[in-house]
Amino acid sequence: MGVFFVRSFFISILTTSTALEIINPGQSLRDGETLVSSSGSFELGFFSPQGSTSKYLGLWLDKSPQTVLWVANRENSLSDNMGVLNITTQGILILLNSTNHIVWSSNSSASRNTQNPVAQLLDSGNFVVREGNDYNPAKFLWQSFDHPCDTLLPGMRIGVNFVTRIDRFLSSWKSPEDPARGEFTFGIDPQGYPQVLLKKGNRTVFRGGPWTGIKFTSNPRPIPNQISTNEFVLNNQEVYFEYRIQSSVSSKLTLSPLGLSQSLTWNDRAQDWVIVGNGQYDQCEEYKFCGPNTRCEITRTPICVCLDGFTPMSPVDWNFSDWSGGCHRRTPLNCSDKDGFLKYTANKLPDTSSSWFDKSIDLKECERLCLKNCSCTSYTNLDFRAGGSGCLIWFGDLIDMRRSTGDGQDVYVRVADSELGANAKKRNLSTKLKAGIIASAAALGMGMLLAGMMFCRRRRNLGKNDRLEEVRKEDIELPIVDLSTIAHATDNFSSSNKLGEGGFGPVYKGILIEGQEIAVKRLSKSSVQGMDEFKNEVKFIAKLQHRNLVKLLGYCIQEDENMLIYEYMPNKSLDFFIFDQARRKLLDWTKRMNIIGGIARGLLYLHQDSRLRVIHRDIKASNILLDNELNPKISDFGLARMFRGDETEANTHRVIGTYGYMSPEYASNGHFSVKTDVFSFGVLILEIVSGKKNRGFRHPDRNLNLLGHAWILWIKGTPSELIDECLGYLSNTSEVLRCIHVALLCVQQRPEDRPNMPTVVQILCNENPLPQPKQPGFFMGKNPLEQEGSSNQMEACSSNEMSLTLLEAR
Ligand SMILES: *[C@@H]1O[C@H](CO)[C@@H](O)[C@H](O)[C@H]1NC(C)=O
Ligand SMILES: *[C@@H]1O[C@H](CO)[C@@H](O)[C@H](O)[C@H]1NC(C)=O
Ligand SMILES: *[C@@H]1O[C@H](CO)[C@@H](O)[C@H](O)[C@H]1NC(C)=O
Ligand SMILES: *[C@@H]1O[C@H](CO)[C@@H](O)[C@H](O)[C@H]1NC(C)=O
Ligand SMILES: *[C@@H]1O[C@H](CO)[C@@H](O)[C@H](O)[C@H]1NC(C)=O
Ligand SMILES: *[C@@H]1O[C@H](CO)[C@@H](O)[C@H](O)[C@H]1NC(C)=O
Ligand SMILES: *[C@@H]1O[C@H](CO)[C@@H](O)[C@H](O)[C@H]1NC(C)=O
Repeated sequence: MGVFFVRSFFISILTTSTALEIINPGQSLRDGETLVSSSGSFELGFFSPQGSTSKYLGLWLDKSPQTVLWVANRENSLSDNMGVLNITTQGILILLNSTNHIVWSSNSSASRNTQNPVAQLLDSGNFVVREGNDYNPAKFLWQSFDHPCDTLLPGMRIGVNFVTRIDRFLSSWKSPEDPARGEFTFGIDPQGYPQVLLKKGNRTVFRGGPWTGIKFTSNPRPIPNQISTNEFVLNNQEVYFEYRIQSSVSSKLTLSPLGLSQSLTWNDRAQDWVIVGNGQYDQCEEYKFCGPNTRCEITRTPICVCLDGFTPMSPVDWNFSDWSGGCHRRTPLNCSDKDGFLKYTANKLPDTSSSWFDKSIDLKECERLCLKNCSCTSYTNLDFRAGGSGCLIWFGDLIDMRRSTGDGQDVYVRVADSELGANAKKRNLSTKLKAGIIASAAALGMGMLLAGMMFCRRRRNLGKNDRLEEVRKEDIELPIVDLSTIAHATDNFSSSNKLGEGGFGPVYKGILIEGQEIAVKRLSKSSVQGMDEFKNEVKFIAKLQHRNLVKLLGYCIQEDENMLIYEYMPNKSLDFFIFDQARRKLLDWTKRMNIIGGIARGLLYLHQDSRLRVIHRDIKASNILLDNELNPKISDFGLARMFRGDETEANTHRVIGTYGYMSPEYASNGHFSVKTDVFSFGVLILEIVSGKKNRGFRHPDRNLNLLGHAWILWIKGTPSELIDECLGYLSNTSEVLRCIHVALLCVQQRPEDRPNMPTVVQILCNENPLPQPKQPGFFMGKNPLEQEGSSNQMEACSSNEMSLTLLEAR
């Protein structure tokens, strides 16, 4: 994201006739003219951002004039196209408006004795002022590379000079229409061991972290190519980061107005910038998401885990998914040399703002130093190349540590002697248990990277480009996968690889060259509604990460094809099990309870914990996929809607969903909220408990649906008759009965009588008394819509369990 918004900027520039190579005193650059670099790859001129009439002086790549890489007068725009750039005889650049007022100036040190200053745009994209015959970069009078805006180009530096106190950092545009300095900055904080920070105002929101000798600690792995070299320099004078790249490649690192940092390279085939890396790629990258003394582990539920020897500061908040308070020591350190260290492998290093380092000390000595200082809480190597060297020591709480999704660093955390023995044993065991999960997560990350390197060829076809634009504008941070790769993986979409028919087209199984199994959803070419759902799905699921949500690995929009690529779920979906005579025997109560709990946590994440806050609107058995351990994963976000933090409900004229799972207020008025999902979840619990479909269930004597049947049994005091007979003898029916009770609360007629998901998650697993349910919504076999005479049609449509449009008002 953040990159594509600048597309279709200022068309006027493209009609430029005059191209200058240098500007001398007595010569001007006027609106409509450009200054070009000697190879013609960069241009400098006047432009207006899309949606704005203000004019700015900026520079861009010749092949990508839509994407402005640097702006001179970002705070002070020109109101007409009469701007002029002059250079004074002292070598100062001045930008004048039509009434000859200085709108911007280069502020070079005017005291210098200049003879013959010239302004020139170099082939690196550096706009410089130099003495006419002096090409030595060290002697440039002024250079744009010293004044970064939102983009870091190869050869540019961010960092701090300790002598001059000059701090160079990226700062975001205010908005896509306004290049003025926005809220976000991206630079190096020299406190402690210097680290890269992304801040919103004075608040850190993301930590690229310290340099580990190979990469910044937040990167899952070093940049996977040989074409770029990174340089991180730290000495008494300065600290800076710079990267260089093979000259034939165009690359940049940008900070979007919304605060997302990304690296991109120009792809000639696609004629576009392609994302090669995102700074903040999941929830654990949110600064301090888990509070002090925790480790964020994206594959765990909850994702925040206290370090060993620590317990939650506030167990109540912790239970309510508020992890910000973090954890504290179970046994306080009494600062004796008997304290020991627990080793954590594969980490993003904690916040180094309160740390100390020495390049020449080895790890053994580092441990000794840490033990000697009472406030030292942790240590590790400073440089991880060749087995590691140097010493880095932390003081006080450990902040913003995570398990890395790729190559991480070791951290040794100090604990009291008494915590040492017990934890060492426990950790060894849990490491083994976790190994499987981590391995698969790593494989996935690898797959994504590989996929990221295969680019989708974009054809010069207006319709298709629009479509791509539209999808891209929605902040997509996903790899694009080439059609040929997918065709190869699915054996050319062979029918033997077809897994089934989804909401908007067939789904195929595929195997990538690296061996990773994938599921490919292919949008039917004829489907119109499908296109909206396709875009919706990409928009949402790309930004959601939870172990109970299916993972989208990439997408492809190419030629006539629109495809989504997911992780492959060997056990298909929940309906495939619970509604099948033979297979439902495979799901004992423990497994069913695990499925109910997993769906609840997934929904809780969607409603409350994710960055987006999403209402799914189509929770049903066939949208719950099962992995090889029968863990549930919510899928199909084609109908999902985002809601803002302060709004909880909305209306739609198009009521779409699946009959049998829809709440009364939604089916009849199009009114939806998080409680719409809660209703569907209640239906789903009853289906899981009974092994029967709500839709299609008919009680032999009474005209009741499953909800009605459950309610009648409830008031008769015999709810256990609802339990699937396949479950056989249950040692503990109270858990099952509690599920039925919770389900009935979820399917209440009035949304306000239904619990929200945080409450559902709570009451599912404790034993506190619950309120008595009232008669559920839609409790009779007949639905108001059916009585309007459309029942036959409904019957026909719903037999294949596809989501459908029930009514379309206006
Ligand atoms: C800018 O340069 C032009 C010559 O190109 C000159 O006519 C004009 O007076 C200069 N303006 C200022 C304010 O120096
Ligand atoms: C030029 O800039 C001055 C000072 O900012 C401002 O007062 C004036 O209105 C501007 N002229 C035009 C035509 O925008
Ligand atoms: C020029 O630099 C001085 C000191 O370096 C600073 O105070 C002043 O604000 C700068 N002016 C502009 C227009 O950047
Ligand atoms: C950040 O800025 C706000 C308002 O400008 C101020 O109230 C707050 O104290 C600052 N926080 C820090 C840590 O400097
Ligand atoms: C947190 O939840 C667990 C499991 O439901 C429960 O055993 C524990 O008592 C709860 N703790 C608090 C403080 O609510
Ligand atoms: C505190 O330190 C002493 C040694 O000075 C040690 O014997 C004792 O076990 C320590 N207490 C704890 C709780 O670690
Ligand atoms: C421990 O380290 C901190 C930070 O460097 C320092 O201020 C403090 O004096 C040290 N304490 C001891 C006992 O060495």
